[in-house]
Parts: sequence; structure tokens; C-alpha cells
Amino acid sequence: MNKRDFLRTSAGAGLGLLLGDTVWARFADIPADRLADDEAFWTTIRAKYRLKPDYINLESGYYSIQPTPVLEAFLAKVREINYQGSYYLRGPMVPDKAAVRDKLAAIAGCAPGELCITRNTTESIDTVVSGFDWKAGDEAVMAEQDYGHMLAQFRLMARRHGLVNKLVSVPVDPKTDDEVVRLYAGAITPRTRLLMVSHMVNITGHILPVRKIADMAHATGVEVLVDGAHAFAHFDFKIPDLGCDYYGASLHKWLGCPLGTGILYVRREKIPKLWPIFGDWRMTDDNDIMKLNHTGTHPVHTDLAIEYAIAFHEMLGIKRKEARLRYLQNYWTTKVRAMSNVIVQTPADPARSCAIATVGVKGVPPADLAKTLLDKYKIWTNAIDSDTAGIHGVRVTPHVFILPKELDTLIRAIGAIAKTV
Ligand SMILES: Cc1ncc(COP(=O)(O)O)c(C=O)c1O
Repeated sequence: MNKRDFLRTSAGAGLGLLLGDTVWARFADIPADRLADDEAFWTTIRAKYRLKPDYINLESGYYSIQPTPVLEAFLAKVREINYQGSYYLRGPMVPDKAAVRDKLAAIAGCAPGELCITRNTTESIDTVVSGFDWKAGDEAVMAEQDYGHMLAQFRLMARRHGLVNKLVSVPVDPKTDDEVVRLYAGAITPRTRLLMVSHMVNITGHILPVRKIADMAHATGVEVLVDGAHAFAHFDFKIPDLGCDYYGASLHKWLGCPLGTGILYVRREKIPKLWPIFGDWRMTDDNDIMKLNHTGTHPVHTDLAIEYAIAFHEMLGIKRKEARLRYLQNYWTTKVRAMSNVIVQTPADPARSCAIATVGVKGVPPADLAKTLLDKYKIWTNAIDSDTAGIHGVRVTPHVFILPKELDTLIRAIGAIAKTV
């Protein structure tokens, strides 16, 4: 988005002078890949965040803090709705939320009627999984490396309806897409109805070849659900290009929205057969995705703030964001990969990863590694220790406010810890 387009958006009107004319004049036309290591630009972006000085925050994978202008716009919405009271909820709320939904659909590249705002990926994925009309003996395919609570939802369906779950194990560093596609294909049987695949594996940052997996599954009549918790607004893609039937994502991870925001995409022709979790007396139309979206009375200001996060995201530009995030990950992983006793558990191929990577040190339990990083080096990461997934290390997730000099601290810390074993 160029500056003129940005200022034309309604959220842009509020956030319009975010970077100021001088900054735009200097940076707007520089291609994303050339801007990726331009510390002057990224220092300007960093200044839009209020960062806690006590630690280097390399755990934006769970929740990424909102930039200050988005946070302020969100707080203004909280005040405004408290001022208007139920007058707002009974009137403007519905069209206002629909307008936000339309903007999200534009980023997702789908029709507004195929998308609804949820609280998070959990709600989105679980709405699909429990919306199927499962019969005993039906099968579903997923991976050991998928998010634990999503797997738990399939286990719930197994207990309740007799669904049979088949789990594959995705290698850390596949040589080709076909290797991954064949893995999933091998788990499909004539009884398989649904395949769930993570767009980005949460414990390794591995981007999976979703389009090829979806095409393979569809060729055998199997529907495809994508867990996009970590992918949406992290790197550049449009949901329909993935060829999936269902897509769920959280917006409080990479879009920088307030906590409690997500999306559910359902391909239009799949909407009628999904059962809603909550009944809604107004929604009699089985073809309307909103039948899946009864929320009761809820914090609507959270949903309204999405518009401001979109404005910030678009000002930054997904290509610039993706290039910078990949640059940051490669900046530190290429250096620690060369160290002895250090194991990076994220694909080395840049096309298979972006911001997230996981690193372990031989002989150091992940919880100890995370603790040493925090206590001794003031680096906040997340320990991953899963025998079933085969991943042991700390997940490192820089967001756009992280600078390479902070990653230098991580590199030095990993090097020093690896020398002690
Ligand atoms: C792959 C994946 N799926 C689902 C979730 C759940 O996301 P949320 O807690 O925002 O619903 C996460 C959270 O980190 C995740 O990594």
C-alpha cells in the first residue's frame, strides 16, 4: 500500500501519520528484500512499540504485543463503547463488525461471506472439527507436530463419535515437498474424511506445502482443514490459493491485534453441511457462515480494533514484514547452526521457514536452556520438549520490533551454553 492509499482507509485516517512524511519519502519505494536489513527503517518501526526493558522478547509466537498506535485506538474503542452502552450494541455494532470482517476478507483474499471473526484459532479449528457429522469408523489425518489442543479436539471426537485419528510425523528438514505430501497421502484410507495440516508447525516454524497436500487430499475426496495460527499476516499468501476447505488463524499473533481475535474461513460450498456449536435463532440460513459465529454478548471493542491493526500491517506491507522476519531468523540461525553441540530444528531452506526457529543444545534440557537464557542473558523464549513430536529446544520468535543486535546476544548466549556441555 502506498501512502496515498493508506490515508484513504478509515483506520488510516487515525494512524495516517504513523511514520511521518520524511520516513515515507526515504523508505516507501525501497523493495522489501533490500529493506530487510535497513536498521534505520526498522528502528523507526520498533519505536512504535512499548518494549519492556527487563528482557529481549523472543516469544512473539504466543502473543505479539500491539504497536502503541493500535493499542491506543483499541483503548479509545473501549471508552467509546462504555460511553454509548447498549445503544451501540443494539445498533451500530452489527454493521461496524461486518465492515471489519470485510477488511479481513480482503487481506485473506476470500469473499466476505466465507469468513467470520472468532476469538482465536482454537475456536475456529474446533468449530470445524466438531461441526462434522462424524460416524463411528470415520477417519481423520493429522500430525504429531500439530498443536496439542487441536489434536485433543480430534481425540474428543474419537471418544464421543468413534472417529479414528491417524497421525503422521513430519520430518524436521524434508528435502522435497513430495516427501511431505507422500507422508500425508500414506495415512489416507477410503474411510478418511478430513485432513488437518498446520500451515506453520508451531514448535519448529516449519512451513508445510499446504497447496500440494490439499490437492493430493482432494484427489482422494478428503477435505482439508488448515491450522494457520502462525501463518496469517506473518508471510504473504491468500487463503483461496492454498486450495483448502477450512482455515483458522489467530490475529493476536502476527497481525498485532488485541488478545482474543481470530478468523475462520470456510469455502462457500462447505458452509451448509457444518453444524454450528451454538444455536442462534436469527440464523436460519444454512448457507450463511454467520450461523457458525454466535458469540453471545462479547467484547466487541476487541473486534473493532482489528481495523487499526490492519492499517498498521498494511502500512508496513506484508512483503516487507515477511522479508524482515525471515532475515532476522536467518541472521541468528545461520550463525548457531555452525556451532558444535547446537541443533537447529527448523528447515534450513528459507522457503520453508520465516520468523520462528527452534534451537536445542545437546545434553541441556529445554526448560534449563530457557531458564538460563532468561536468568543469565535476559532473553525470553519458550521451551519445547516433546518426545512424540521429536522436538527439544527453545522456540525463538522475533517480531518486527527486534533488532539484530539483540539476536547477537542470543547467538553469544547459545555459543557460551554449548561450550559448557
Ligand atoms: C499451530 C497452533 N494452533 C493453534 C493454536 C491456538 O491458538 P489460540 O490459543 O490463539 O487459539 C496455536 C497457539 O499457539 C498454535 O500454535
